[in-house]
Amino acid sequence: MDGPRPHRLRWVPGIVQAVAPDGVADLAPGYLDPELLPTGLIADAYTEALEEYGAAALTYGENQGVLPLRQALAERAATGGRPCGPEHVLVTAGTSHALHLLATTLARAGDVVLCEPVCYDFGRRILTDRGLLPSPIPMDGEGPDPAALVEAARAHRAAGRRVAFVYLVPTFHNPTGLLVGEHRRRELVAAARENDVLIVEDDAYAELRLDPVVMPPSLAELAGYTGVIRLCTFAKTLGPGLRLGWMIADPVLTARLAAGGLLSSGGGLNHLASLAVATLLLDGRYDRRIARLREGLRARRDALVTALGGGVAVPHGGFFLWLPGLDAGAAERAGVRVADGARFGAPPGPVSRLSYSFNPPEELAAAGRRLAALLDLTPTA
Ligand SMILES: Cc1ncc(COP(=O)(O)O)c(C=O)c1O
Repeated sequence: MDGPRPHRLRWVPGIVQAVAPDGVADLAPGYLDPELLPTGLIADAYTEALEEYGAAALTYGENQGVLPLRQALAERAATGGRPCGPEHVLVTAGTSHALHLLATTLARAGDVVLCEPVCYDFGRRILTDRGLLPSPIPMDGEGPDPAALVEAARAHRAAGRRVAFVYLVPTFHNPTGLLVGEHRRRELVAAARENDVLIVEDDAYAELRLDPVVMPPSLAELAGYTGVIRLCTFAKTLGPGLRLGWMIADPVLTARLAAGGLLSSGGGLNHLASLAVATLLLDGRYDRRIARLREGLRARRDALVTALGGGVAVPHGGFFLWLPGLDAGAAERAGVRVADGARFGAPPGPVSRLSYSFNPPEELAAAGRRLAALLDLTPTA
């Protein structure tokens, strides 16, 4: 690689979170490629929000989040026909914020949080920062094992520990890419309900289906929006810099959070961003944006998978490919940075997470060829 591309000139320490050294193909971060971030669209949306709402866009916003956004998000949530209303939606400053909010309001230090054996590392960090104790439950090829969930909850309670909730990423899982099907989802919802375990469903990648697979309803929808709190974000579809997301939960919980000191003092989170994004949802521009983004992500995933050759499990959506056998240190020495599987839990052998969201197809293909040579894989084309 010969230095930063023009659109990366401002992609520098002091402005952005992570910068890979020159000459390293960085397949570690779960970021969108700068080329996939819609700066023009967001500029238009902010201008329109300020024109339409004037000073009301710059004051403290409605605690629970602005109604037009909540209404639009509630309508999108109900894919399987079970009605969801704006009262179920609470606007957040993204999923990290929502998890922190739940960890502080629904749990106390020393509580157990059941989770997948390899799970979103920073999600787990948010929980452990609050003194919560992650406890992995086994997962098979279909997803987390419902019987193991029940057994773990019983064992913790028998030992006098409170189970605050189970934290799951059932849709295009970070880091494995797995999509949990409807049957397993129903089993998980039933097992959790029968054993009085709250589910926190992190659905960051829900909109990023890349293949014509059937999308199962969310756990929250299957549960009728009680017993499951679903966390969603615009970080993976529009851009993490917006710091905008939402929670779908029982109206008793959303009202309780909205009435708390944080939102009573500061008003709805990211009020102006909420009004701007609502304009995109209401006139179809958000859907058109998602369609284009999926094309961009599909091209990137396919470039990486093709270069890696046979034998890799191809994710049907999201940002990540999970590659057993690949040692992150060896990859780095070959000039490709990947996320070491050990970041996400305690996998049995070497395994790495490769993100195809952050680089253009030609760079992913070049990185994939280096990794294929390292692993002795045969590229398919
Ligand atoms: C599963 C999962 N949840 C949450 C996040 C972060 O979301 P946000 O930027 O909205 O805090 C990520 C980003 O990597 C993620 O992969």
